[in-house]
Amino acid sequence: MIARASPNIAFLKYWGKKPITNDLDRNLALNPSLSMTLSQAHTETSVRRALQTKVEINHQLASEKDFFKVQGHIERVCDHLNYSAKTFEVKSFNNFPQGTGIASSASAFAALTWAVIGEILGAERAREYFSENLFELSQLARRGSGSASRSVAGPFMKWDGEGAYHIPLSWKLFDTIVIFSREHKKVTSSEGHELALSSPHFEARQKKIPQRLRLMEDALLQRDLHTLGPLLEVESDEMHNIAATSERPVIYAGQGTRTLLTSIKNLPNREFYYTLDAGPNVHLISTRPIRDEVSKLLAKTGLSAEIWEDHCGTGPCII
Ligand code: PMV
Repeated sequence: MIARASPNIAFLKYWGKKPITNDLDRNLALNPSLSMTLSQAHTETSVRRALQTKVEINHQLASEKDFFKVQGHIERVCDHLNYSAKTFEVKSFNNFPQGTGIASSASAFAALTWAVIGEILGAERAREYFSENLFELSQLARRGSGSASRSVAGPFMKWDGEGAYHIPLSWKLFDTIVIFSREHKKVTSSEGHELALSSPHFEARQKKIPQRLRLMEDALLQRDLHTLGPLLEVESDEMHNIAATSERPVIYAGQGTRTLLTSIKNLPNREFYYTLDAGPNVHLISTRPIRDEVSKLLAKTGLSAEIWEDHCGTGPCII
């Protein structure tokens, strides 16, 4: 069975999680978050029953660490369906650079959840199962990777507590991603979540979150980019400031990232706003395609980067 899922870009970030007591408690965030699911970037995962589990990622045998993460998630999904044969051959492929701040773990665990369920139930029953059990599936995907809880549907998702809910809203937003680096980040999000709590700014941010969440949700429901945009930027800056001020400072932005953000902030009458995940690549959110403006801006600031054009999407599917 083959499933496809897209990453999501967090508008309100998940940064810091509760300690784990058992597998059901994995990746419980310390604060609610909001996101937009993408549509062009995706992970495609094929899963086939086999005598032994074998995992290939981007045409290569998975590292030991990735193998155990995938195997652990397969076991969770099988337990969820009370299915006892837990060995599968898994082949997963991303059409975008992974580990660079484009939320590849979100799409990877959403696609794996869908593909395993599809293989066990068959496409038709699985599709029914997905539409009737979205919240449980979000909880399940969350245990693979926190942000995957929000990649189970779209375009707009709110994760609060054990899983994510769909925000009923139709608004076409674009995410133009400026890719400065395809290199895998040195500090993983898991380490970042742990370190976050040691930042002197962590508690202050937690206190601001309920109000920021309300303001962002209102701006989304009113489809008001000019209210949403500045909130996106403050939120992204704060997450990166927390990472940079934790007991082991983590700097995800590179020189190109900083130069671009400065020139964006100086633009008059902007029609796009930035946000970053845990990586150097910059997500620009707008209500229309902006590739040409972004190319010009990069040329003017002497920066070289790839541009990935994406827009919101509706979540995973079985192919
Ligand atoms: O799901 P994780 O453990 O990869 O954490 C993702 C954290 C951020 O992408 C930085 C923010 C978010 O809310 O997605």
